[in-house]
Amino acid sequence: MGRACATSAVVLLLCLSAVIAEDPYLFFTWKVTYGTISPMGFPQQGILINGQFPGPMINCTSNNNIIVNVFNELDEPLLLTWSGIQQRKNSWVDGTIGTMCPIMPGTNFTYKMQVKDQIGTYFYFPTTGLQRAAGGYGPINVHSRDLIPVPFDSPADEFNVFISDWYNKGHKTLKKILDSGHTIARPDGVVINGKHGKVGDKIDPLFTMEAGKTYRYRVCNVGMRTSVNFRFKGHTMTLVEMEGSHTIQNVYDSLDLHVGQCLSVLVTADKEPKDYYLVVSSRFFKQEFSTVAIISYANGNGITASPELPPSPPENTEGIAWSINQFRSFRWNLTASAARPNPQGSYHYGQINITRTIKLVNSKSYVDGKLRYALNGVSHINTDTPLKLAEYFGISEKVFKYDIMGDTPPENGEKVTLAPNVVNATFRNFVEIVFENHEKTIQTYHLDGHSFFAVAIEAGRWSPEKRKNYNLVDAVSRHSIQVYPNSWAAVMTTLDNAGMWNLRSDMWERAYLGQQLYFSVLSPERSLRDEHNLPDKQQLCGLVKGMSMPPPYSGF
Ligand SMILES: *[C@@H]1O[C@H](CO)[C@@H](O)[C@H](O)[C@H]1NC(C)=O
Ligand SMILES: *[C@@H]1O[C@H](CO)[C@@H](O)[C@H](O)[C@H]1NC(C)=O
Ligand SMILES: *[C@@H]1O[C@H](CO)[C@@H](O)[C@H](O)[C@H]1NC(C)=O
Ligand SMILES: *[C@@H]1O[C@H](CO)[C@@H](O)[C@H](O)[C@H]1NC(C)=O
Ligand SMILES: *[C@@H]1O[C@H](CO)[C@@H](O)[C@H](O)[C@H]1NC(C)=O
Repeated sequence: MGRACATSAVVLLLCLSAVIAEDPYLFFTWKVTYGTISPMGFPQQGILINGQFPGPMINCTSNNNIIVNVFNELDEPLLLTWSGIQQRKNSWVDGTIGTMCPIMPGTNFTYKMQVKDQIGTYFYFPTTGLQRAAGGYGPINVHSRDLIPVPFDSPADEFNVFISDWYNKGHKTLKKILDSGHTIARPDGVVINGKHGKVGDKIDPLFTMEAGKTYRYRVCNVGMRTSVNFRFKGHTMTLVEMEGSHTIQNVYDSLDLHVGQCLSVLVTADKEPKDYYLVVSSRFFKQEFSTVAIISYANGNGITASPELPPSPPENTEGIAWSINQFRSFRWNLTASAARPNPQGSYHYGQINITRTIKLVNSKSYVDGKLRYALNGVSHINTDTPLKLAEYFGISEKVFKYDIMGDTPPENGEKVTLAPNVVNATFRNFVEIVFENHEKTIQTYHLDGHSFFAVAIEAGRWSPEKRKNYNLVDAVSRHSIQVYPNSWAAVMTTLDNAGMWNLRSDMWERAYLGQQLYFSVLSPERSLRDEHNLPDKQQLCGLVKGMSMPPPYSGF
């Protein structure tokens, strides 16, 4: 804004009115440190933010400006990403390794972002190394602006529920295991808001409800790899929001939630006043593991929770069918008003012609004896110079090649190439992305910078005729999707946000070992209409450190 506001009186006037109408600012100062936590009941090293695990909440409203000054007091580099926050025109602060230089130990960096045209439930987490396994994550709740009606009555209160599988080995040990070419294998347990609980243990209530009132539970799966199912003893849940979209308000006994996904449910305290278990159990894992938390009633008189838990949903083939059915019941409420990003793609997305189809097949293999994961035969490796900065400074050819990966999997599916995986995407193209999973494990994917319409999930292989099965009317606009074993999933989106955007497996071992890529969405005009300038105090590293700055974007 600053640079564009200098030239003429007319422009000055326009800028002045822009400033007057400016959206509110929220300021945060975060100290990121190691500290002792006991998620599984015994002390170990965790990553805290301002002493907290999970980290502090960003509670904001659509269009707020969020300023977070992050002090890295760890002994290793740090970057935080804001999963689901679209960073319109601003991939500079997306917090992935391909967009930013890490915050070095003992230094600080200020993220300046705006939650433009978004509402909903999101979270932040560290993208550096395996730090996500040690904490460093926390909630981002984005409320509707006052004048925008919300399609349900204001709840008595809101509760953030953070579900995560947990490894007892510290994040540095986990990183060493992956770096040496092995798998971190199965987690040791699962925790709710950083705590593991067993039926019968004396557990402090996680939340307390007042009889007769309705509460909004904002639930996220921030784990490393495990899909979960969650359910309240004796209470149903009304689904109202999923990753930024108001949904049709169906009622569920239990819900599957895959890694990287968030949703909101309403729960009414309309049962006998006493304690109840909230149960979380793993999905599609050979041996189920689970945890419980206590939800109490304010006038519950200390009556303890019944040890009889609500049943787990089916597993194996039947369980997959159950879960796919549940996915299909998730529908966007088309009449609910809300802030909507991606204006081009928002309405009638079913009538937009697809300009590009990208079919991605994931694979697991050993390259020189080391475990790697790949998409269409390319296993992504991070670069010392962030991809976005290399591109902006005009030295991309020294750092990566575009389009090493094809839009379809290679014929001889065996060979795996290790390279930065950057897809040259055309600004404003309406793309269809098909994820096909030939492996026996469930997958989950997340796209930065955009939301997409999750139009279909089916068993088997995808083919163009499957398009007739797409939900082209009211698919939920979201930023993550699961892909069941030997199944496929299709999403559609307009790549209308200029920047460098990570599409990754949300299962962190897989992302870390290569199952991810970046979409380079370049605005041909280098115009401020399409993309913000590189922020003033942006840290530079790798080959761009010390280079002279490219001319800033201009115009509108
Ligand atoms: C979060 O923000 C909303 C909307 O401004 C407000 O109603 C609510 O009280 C806030 N919650 C907390 C915990 O600060
Ligand atoms: C680091 O924090 C100080 C305030 O303590 C602030 O003035 C400065 O701008 C911050 N640096 C960066 C790069 O954000
Ligand atoms: C959709 O939103 C509208 C408008 O807020 C609301 O009246 C309606 O109940 C919602 N429909 C469903 C099925 O949830
Ligand atoms: C989509 O493609 C069809 C056939 O190629 C064409 O007739 C139609 O006008 C296109 N629609 C839009 C919205 O561009
Ligand atoms: C990316 O694709 C566009 C058109 O699709 C082309 O004009 C451009 O040269 C490509 N850029 C690179 C770096 O390959």
